[in-house]
Order: sequence, then structure tokens, then C-alpha cells
Amino acid sequence: MNVTVIGTGYVGLVQGVILSEFGHKVICMDIDKTKIENLNKGILPIYEPGLKDILEHNVNEKRLSFTTDIKEAILNSEVIFIAVGTPPSDDGSADLKYVLECAKNIGENLNGYKVIVNKSTVPVGTGDLVEKEIEKVLGKRGVKFKFDVVSNPEFLREGKAVNDCLRPDRVVIGSESTKALDIMKKIYDVLYINKTPFVFTNRRTSEMIKYASNAFLAVKISYINEMALLAEKVGANTQEIAQAMGMDGRISPKFLHCGPGYGGSCFPKDTKAIVEIGKEYGENMSVIAAAISANEKQKQKMVEKIIKEMSGVSRKTIGILGLTFKPETDDMRDAPSIDIIRGLVINGAKIKAYCPKGIEEAKWRLKDLNRDIEFCENEVECSKGSDAIVLMTEWNQFRGMDLEELKNRMKDNFYFDLRNVHSKDDNVRKIFRYFPVGQC
Ligand code: UDX
Repeated sequence: MNVTVIGTGYVGLVQGVILSEFGHKVICMDIDKTKIENLNKGILPIYEPGLKDILEHNVNEKRLSFTTDIKEAILNSEVIFIAVGTPPSDDGSADLKYVLECAKNIGENLNGYKVIVNKSTVPVGTGDLVEKEIEKVLGKRGVKFKFDVVSNPEFLREGKAVNDCLRPDRVVIGSESTKALDIMKKIYDVLYINKTPFVFTNRRTSEMIKYASNAFLAVKISYINEMALLAEKVGANTQEIAQAMGMDGRISPKFLHCGPGYGGSCFPKDTKAIVEIGKEYGENMSVIAAAISANEKQKQKMVEKIIKEMSGVSRKTIGILGLTFKPETDDMRDAPSIDIIRGLVINGAKIKAYCPKGIEEAKWRLKDLNRDIEFCENEVECSKGSDAIVLMTEWNQFRGMDLEELKNRMKDNFYFDLRNVHSKDDNVRKIFRYFPVGQC
């Protein structure tokens, strides 16, 4: 089928590339000229393992192309995915201006029946708004074309996006139109044949499934993080608590790793957005609101713990290992490292920081602290002259670090392992004054 994907962020680009891998002829459209010029040269705007190879393969096969020309993209497609950003407004609710701009463009260029697919995470009822906007523009043009707006939320994780798109746990499709559903089945033909579970539902339920899933995962993380704070006080081990909890099939062991708090482009934004949706409809989403404040508290607690154990951080040097909100991404959006570094600097610390992929973005996100932060080439350089190291993100390369070597280059020997990467290593406690999370 001929498909257009509007928006070449994480969701849109991965979706476009994978749809071309499924055999469709895909045009990825974005208003950002530089992004499109780069994509045409094979330069990707994001770091996502495995994506470049599949992209190049499908460009060579002439199934994938990139353009800034929305008219051409719309005219030549039967299915149009909207995968533009829905950034938070000042109150935390999702800002729909880019989604509605897409709807307007689609209305202006519609030339026959098409399926419009909302891939962006959007508040319940956005499908209706998109439909109305397209109708309005068609009315102005004085033309009548049939179209359907479908909700098809994306569940991909950064760093694992290619696999998540090729082998999703489920595909959710929300539409009341059988014609649109048949077309969506053709779009996901490969997955349908491979017995991927499909959920066919109405549009509003589909829109809500995405928020309900992300908010639940955020609650799960905040829950275990709060357990971890208590476990440290009572002398219990959170990793073992989580393991035993997870043996109960109703709970599952996934997403029960305690740490410095969740970050990224989805959980912080989507939890706030669903609380706002609740307010709009007169429902207090108190469990999710508590998960949000527990996450803020968690980051603060990490700062307090470092300050307490080091008897203050004023004029001390702290080496931060890992800056991104998780490994295998260059994304720094809402990374806990940002708040934790700020908290340490406010208390007088000097920071040395190393991250395999996050430094470029960290430099501009933390540019106001440039007198207090030195970015390093690797973990060894980061440890040089530091009083403490703080492992913030569990990049694989940190698992195999030579701990003795790091210690020998440090001024003092504090090691705050905020991801419990070395908590099972007997040596670590001999080399360092070692502080994991949620255990002693
Ligand atoms: C998430 C959802 O998993 C995905 O389905 C959705 O489409 C987008 O949001 P992503 O943001 O890429 O994906 O990252 P994810 O792997 O879910 O991790 C989010 C944050 O939670 C990270 O900061 C991570 O470190 C943290 N986390 C995750 C924990 O602290 N503990 C855990 O057990 C799991």
C-alpha cells in the first residue's frame, strides 16, 4: 500500500521505516528541511540501534523516501499516519497544535478516500477533533471526500524501537469503520499472519489504552522506588523483594527495577497529561498523581543521599557515569540525571560527566551550568580526581568497568550505584564506600 508518515521523530521515523520493511511504499514527511536533507543522505536524526541498516535497505529498494512536500505525500497515499509531537503545555496537558496542523493539511489536499491514523499519543477525543478539522477544511474547499480517522497508538521503547515495531506485544486499532479496519489489517498484514495479538476497539478506548499503559508502568516504577526508600531504612533488599513479588504471575517481574526515577519522552509527559484529562472530566487521577510526585521525590532523595553519605558535596568533584534517561539512546528528555546534577551543583559540587551517547544533548540542556560541569571522553577520565562516582544510567559498558582502575584515579572512594549494576559484585564493597539503591 502507499503510505505517508507525517513527523520523523522517534515514533514516526521508526514506524515509517518498519512499514517499508513490511513491504509498503512509504513517504516520510517532515517540515524540518535539514532533517529531510540529512535523511536523504542517510544521516539519522536519532540514535536507535538497527534502524540505519533497515532504512538504507528500503531506500535502496525504492520503498522508502523522505520529503518536505506534504501535498505530494498526501496525494500519493491511501493511508496517512500522523506521528508528530504532542509536547506538554504549561499545565501538563498535551498540546495538539501539530496534530491539528496535520489535519488541516490533510483536509487541504485530500483527493479521495483515505485512512488517517493517529499514531501520536493524544488525549481521548482527539480523533473526533481531527475528523472535524478535516471536515471543516473540506467544507471551505467545497468538496466532499470520504475518509476515516483511526487511533493506532505506538508502544515502542527507545533503544529497542526496531524490535518493538517488528514484534509488538499487541497492535491496538480503534475505529468504528469496517472499511478502515480492513485497510489497517492490510497495513499490518505481516503481523496479522504471524499471530500478533490484535485489539480492535472503538477510537476513544484505543486512545485511552495508550495513556493507561504508560501511566501504569510509571506507577509500577514509582511503587518499587518508594519500597526501595523504605527497604534502605529497614535493612531489606529491594532487588529480592521485586524478584519475589514478580513470581506472582499477577504482578510480573518486569518494570520493578528501582533507580533514580523514570524519565524519557513518554512517562513524565503522559502521566501529567492523563491527570489533566482527568481534571477536565472531573476525575481526580490520584494514583497517577502520587506516582508523579513520588518520581520527583526519588530524584531529590538521590541528591540527599549523596550529600548525607559524603557529609556535604561543597567543593567536591562528582563523576557522573551515564546521562541519558536509559541506555541505548541519545535522548536526554526528562532524564533524572538533569535534576540530580542540578541538585548537586546547587549544593556546591563540581561535576565531571561521561555518557556514551548523551553528551551532545546534555551540553545544551545543562548549558547554564557550564562552569560547574566538565564533559569527559570516557569513564576513566571521569573518575580522575573525583571524590565520588555516580552510576546514573546502566549502559552495558559500565558493567565491565575496571573498578580498581577507577578507584586508583579518584581522590576519594564513594560509589553511588543508582542502577544496582554492581550490587552483586563482592569486590565492589572492598574497593569503594559503595551505596546501591534500595539495599544496604
Ligand atoms: C516507554 C514505554 O515503555 C513504551 O511502551 C512507550 O511507547 C513509551 O514510553 P521508553 O520511554 O522508551 O518507553 O522507556 P522505558 O524502557 O519504558 O523506560 C522509561 C523509564 O523508566 C527510564 O527512565 C527507565 O530507566 C525507567 N525504568 C524502567 C525504571 O526506573 N525501572 C524499571 O523497572 C523500568
